[in-house]
Amino acid sequence: MTTTTLSILPEQIDALLTGETNQVANLANAAALLNQSLEDINWVGFYLYDPATDNLDLGPFQGNVACMHIQNNQGVCGTAFYNNAPLRVANVHEFKGHIACDSASNSELVIPINVNGKAIGVLDIDSPLLDRFSATDEQVLSMFVTKLAKHLAS
Ligand code: SME
Repeated sequence: MTTTTLSILPEQIDALLTGETNQVANLANAAALLNQSLEDINWVGFYLYDPATDNLDLGPFQGNVACMHIQNNQGVCGTAFYNNAPLRVANVHEFKGHIACDSASNSELVIPINVNGKAIGVLDIDSPLLDRFSATDEQVLSMFVTKLAKHLAS
């Protein structure tokens, strides 16, 4: 993927979702846009927080069938959500508590989603390559999530 393709993703999602308010539709198209734009990924999608169960529940995604529920503070997703900070894991097999949904995954990037100051879930991206995600990927995809969050409700 070119640097340009990556760098325009935040503006692309903002334009795509302008005037759109359906949460599921917006998350579904965000997952599709990332899936068609990012190379060397095998899963991309969302886990959404349910305070009633203290779990992250599977949301719109592209990829293989995945875990339906992840406990807050468990796995890569739950840890990133709990700390409300992006988590870039070069080798998931070395991450204590990693939840293996797809045996093809070797590296992972998780970015929390905040809407009106409230953490509502995470964007999760898996790659079959080791160390797939760079600091630039994390930075640009964090901007993508910030733009996406403008089109989500808390
Ligand atoms: N590996 C994640 C679980 C979700 S799947 O990758 C889709 C984790 O450890 O939280």
